[in-house]
Amino acid sequence: MSLLEIKNLHAAVNGVQILRGIDLTIEGGSVHSIMGPNGSGKSTLAKVLAGDEAYEVTDGSITLDGNNLLDMEPDERARAGIFMAFQYPVEIPGVSTKYFLRAAVNAVRAYRGESELDAVGFLKLVKETAPTVDLDPALLDRSVNEGFSGGEKKRAEVFQMAMLQPSMCVLDETDSGLDIDALRVVAEGVNALRSPDRGFVVITHYQRLLDYIVPDFVHVLIDGRIAQSGSKELAMELEDKGYGWIEAQCKSTCGC
Ligand SMILES: Nc1ncnc2c1ncn2[C@@H]1O[C@H](COP(=O)(O)OP(=O)(O)OP(=O)(O)O)[C@@H](O)[C@H]1O
Ligand SMILES: [Mg+2]
Repeated sequence: MSLLEIKNLHAAVNGVQILRGIDLTIEGGSVHSIMGPNGSGKSTLAKVLAGDEAYEVTDGSITLDGNNLLDMEPDERARAGIFMAFQYPVEIPGVSTKYFLRAAVNAVRAYRGESELDAVGFLKLVKETAPTVDLDPALLDRSVNEGFSGGEKKRAEVFQMAMLQPSMCVLDETDSGLDIDALRVVAEGVNALRSPDRGFVVITHYQRLLDYIVPDFVHVLIDGRIAQSGSKELAMELEDKGYGWIEAQCKSTCGC
């Protein structure tokens, strides 16, 4: 059974069809990169996976470990092992990052039938995990993402991911706004989490990130469909030639 299976996915927002038939199968242990022009539907795909109710699934199916993901509420999806790092992480004023994370970690543990971590156990996990993303522990005492710099938000996301140990990680432009050192740290954090039972979807515009997080597959999303799939070399070709040639190829074959 595949970890994540997306079949013929169609989704609309405000009555406008954005995703028009996505097929994507992700096995544990693999990293899939999704690239594509602005507005092609990359973030929409991430939001549909997260269960954002603004996005209406009009056709198709998604299963996680064989379970119907579309039947699950967003919080259940998170507990079942989907982790999202969004393009624009939300700020939650008044909720300390530590408190938020402990609640999240314990919700996931409860779902897996594991015992709750008390304050001491949680801090031990924080101490073990923080160095992997070079996170300043002082950030954890502040409200979730509030006033964090762009780079700090991205580091904090990868830190959350390391704490939660999800089975399916979806990263939407985790590289945007990162300086080169932060990019390396975030990529190393992701690479440290690569394991045979965990899959990744990495949405990015730049081949640069893929030098650090080497994908097994690269997919190009055009106008809500995967127009081309290939290996890491495809990302290099895109960096060189842009998307025009794939758009032209796509128009000539499917008439979209
Ligand atoms: N809530 C919304 N209301 C109206 N239109 C939306 C909404 N969300 C997405 N869209 C539209 O859906 C299309 C796809 O948007 P999406 O954010 O998925 O693109 P993207 O591929 O992530 O682009 P980028 O590379 O710029 O991040 C865009 O035309 C966008 O305006
Ligand atoms: Mg986007």
